[in-house]
Amino acid sequence: MNRLLPIAVGAIAILAYATVMLVIVPGMQIRTQAAPAGLVPYTEQQLAGRQQYVSMGCVYCHSQQPRSYEHTLADAAQGWGRPAVAADYVYDRPHQLGTMRTGPDLLNVGARLPSAEWHLTHLYQPRAIFDWSVMPSYPFLFEEKERAAPGDVVVKLPAQFRPGQKVVIARQSALDLVAYLQSLDRSYPVGGDMNSVRDQGFAKPRSAQ
Ligand code: HEC
Repeated sequence: MNRLLPIAVGAIAILAYATVMLVIVPGMQIRTQAAPAGLVPYTEQQLAGRQQYVSMGCVYCHSQQPRSYEHTLADAAQGWGRPAVAADYVYDRPHQLGTMRTGPDLLNVGARLPSAEWHLTHLYQPRAIFDWSVMPSYPFLFEEKERAAPGDVVVKLPAQFRPGQKVVIARQSALDLVAYLQSLDRSYPVGGDMNSVRDQGFAKPRSAQ
């Protein structure tokens, strides 16, 4: 039992060292990041869409962090853009880095898939675009109507996905979410060696059928 004190002191020292090196020092390093010239703050609508993204748990299947080092070429080859840098997230509180990649990384989905029409169809029914998709559909972001009123945004759907004779209209929540997805574009240049993979392999936008 007379070793208790050295063990306790050692344990506390190890914990303190880890806290300094893994929390405090990185925190100081990234707190000073300036926004990159090419990054614009989110608009009110994009922030509302971002809130939808958070509340519906899109982060459980999608990362927002094209990776560097040994993963660089793999991620760039997927068309997910250059490796992310800390400054890419200055307007993201909290960030949506994610840990799972059941679906593609989305940090540059706005550059890859700029069409609002595509996203609306995909959110209403992913299987209308890819019959193999395991992404959930989000029908509650839409409204079914007998006919479209002026100003309604009608979702384009292949015949077998249309609700009978009705039309599918995007609710404001769907439009906001799509505005957020379109804003996900970190394809501007950044300093350092990351630029060497910039622009590499952006996949060709896929169009709705
Ligand atoms: C259960 C896992 C899962 C969840 C939850 C999920 N997705 Fe997906 N997502 C996928 C998969 C798998 C794909 C690839 C197939 C496809 O495009 O449908 C995908 C594809 C996408 C794409 C196309 C990306 C590309 O590069 O082709 C977008 C955009 C997208 N998801 C947005 C969202 C949004 C927004 C949410 C939340 C409302 C969400 N996803 C929730 C699994 C998921």
